[in-house]
Amino acid sequence: MTNNKEAEIDSRDLRRAFGHFATGVTVVTTLDTSGAPCGFTANSFTSVSIDPPLLLVNIARSAYGCDAFTGSHGFAVNILAANQRDLSNRFARAGADKFADQDWHAEITGSPIIEGVVAWFDCEHFEQVEAGDHIILIGRVVQYAYNTQAPLGFCRGAYVSFGMTPGMLQLVSSPGSLRVGAIIESNGQILLERNHETGQLHLPASDSVGNVATPDSLLGKLASAGIEVDLPFIYAAYHEDSRRFVYYLGELLSIDDAVETSSMRFYEFDNITWEEIGDSAIIAMLERYIREKRLGNYSIYIGDRAQGEVHPA
Ligand SMILES: Cc1cc2nc3c(=O)[nH]c(=O)nc-3n(C[C@H](O)[C@H](O)[C@H](O)COP(=O)(O)O)c2cc1C
Repeated sequence: MTNNKEAEIDSRDLRRAFGHFATGVTVVTTLDTSGAPCGFTANSFTSVSIDPPLLLVNIARSAYGCDAFTGSHGFAVNILAANQRDLSNRFARAGADKFADQDWHAEITGSPIIEGVVAWFDCEHFEQVEAGDHIILIGRVVQYAYNTQAPLGFCRGAYVSFGMTPGMLQLVSSPGSLRVGAIIESNGQILLERNHETGQLHLPASDSVGNVATPDSLLGKLASAGIEVDLPFIYAAYHEDSRRFVYYLGELLSIDDAVETSSMRFYEFDNITWEEIGDSAIIAMLERYIREKRLGNYSIYIGDRAQGEVHPA
């Protein structure tokens, strides 16, 4: 539907049109003048600047918490995880008392950082801009953190999850030993690691995703080989008895020369010798990846080692 004459703009329809922009979901928090925590659900979050580090979020002038936000020392933006829909709903209801039974802690500005979120940004006020029926709160980031959980999405008035089927969530969070790996590509080449004892090649993997500071974790192992990655999507999740395997589609952020001297190396798609990989599940995954990359259309495998379903991403 088109609607382009300002005089004729129907506000409900405009809201619906804006809602076609798929976003994440945040809960924006602050402390009011009495020191009580307050917050609201917002999807108007946008990164603004790296230097200085700025972000923005819009608050409706009509919001119960508007004065608390404009008069505070700062605010925090909490980016919700896929399993935090209830939290989003609670903070989207007008009024106080949204923090009952909610775990949170403060960092620098005192604004509540909510437990279990995918990322958070603690901000000092940088500027406030009046814009129609909203106020744009521009914050200067003074502290932040993030992790590799799946984020909650929102589009056309409904929550969406980025490729996480319920079956996959169950598999990822069920008990049993876990192997976490990643497909990481650079210019048509895939990162593989050679096991010097068996001589076999495999995808970089570990027992946990971890972070760059934990050497045995996947991210730690990659970091010590000079490779920095983001792991935004799960590409395959399967089990074999009580062992669970989760493989991410990694995005290469940076790479230094160390990779040349480590047991990891990038291999041209066409030069991969499947016998050197050996593991039939990994071969099937890589063959699917190479096929899907050519088509530019990825899917997600979920099931057990030998049999499963492929869902569109
Ligand atoms: C997904 C979602 C996104 C929202 N985004 C915003 C937003 O960006 N800005 C805003 O002012 N309200 C937004 N809202 C509505 C507020 O969360 C809602 O009006 C809330 O009641 C405000 O809290 P308060 O009145 O207690 O301050 C959003 C609601 C939902 C469910």
